[in-house]
Amino acid sequence: MYSNTNIENINKGFGVLADEYDEMQFTNKPVQIMREKFYELVESIVKPGSDILEINCGSGIDALYFGNKGYNVLATDISDKMLRNAEAKNIDKNIKFMKLSFTELDKINSKKFDLVYSNLGGLNCTDELQKIGKDIYNLLNNGGYFIAAVMPNFFLWEFLLFIKGEFKRAFRRMTNNWVEANVGGEKIKVKYYSPQRFREYFQNKFIFVKTKASRIFAPPPPAGHFYLKQPAVSKLLDKIDGRIEDLYLSSFVCDYYIIVFKK
Ligand SMILES: C[S@@+](CC[C@H](N)C(=O)[O-])C[C@H]1O[C@@H](n2cnc3c(N)ncnc32)[C@H](O)[C@@H]1O
Repeated sequence: MYSNTNIENINKGFGVLADEYDEMQFTNKPVQIMREKFYELVESIVKPGSDILEINCGSGIDALYFGNKGYNVLATDISDKMLRNAEAKNIDKNIKFMKLSFTELDKINSKKFDLVYSNLGGLNCTDELQKIGKDIYNLLNNGGYFIAAVMPNFFLWEFLLFIKGEFKRAFRRMTNNWVEANVGGEKIKVKYYSPQRFREYFQNKFIFVKTKASRIFAPPPPAGHFYLKQPAVSKLLDKIDGRIEDLYLSSFVCDYYIIVFKK
């Protein structure tokens, strides 16, 4: 069960990170590539002018991107500081930000959406996927989409750490239980979902459309410096990833996978 303590710790932890969050994001090449792929996928599915609900929007990077592209965005999160920073960037006031946990989406009763999305593993902070799936389904128009970027419970780069004797880090994701993570000095609980397990929570209501894997052989965000040290190798690994990212199997061994469902 998703506990209030976790919500409090998430609010505090992401509050500590909030002021440096955007700089960390915009200077990290793997994160930039991940966002580009996410945008490309969303834009190929839902057209500008559509109504979008973003859950766990953080500092509003994606909400602002889609808002500036002409989508009508309502963006939600539970971190006060992240939301304040997002609002400060919302100069044209064309995006609506709201403090709301994705475990309470049934509190939204204003309108329905063409797309609900969650980027960069927000849904790894919960085990209430069943309820969240039901609420998202009720919030979508018929034919609407739900797209999420999720961290799976196996990642090749991390697994290979066992060669260096770093067994704890190498195997930390490989459990169906909660794993403790440190965010801004706060202990928060995280769950890693294989694509198959994640699908099981949604497929009785939604039609599964596809997955796209991010960072299979290419360096993940914590290894962003690899792009400066080894630009040619990084480029090659990105190219290899590009060839295999749409294979369902790839989404089982990557750092994040994007998963698409249709109502
Ligand atoms: C890694 S950040 C991702 C932020 C954003 N999606 C991005 O792409 O930059 C995770 C975010 O999930 C939010 N989050 C965690 N649990 C949440 C919950 N129960 N409801 C809403 N947001 C939550 C955190 O506050 C944090 O801003």
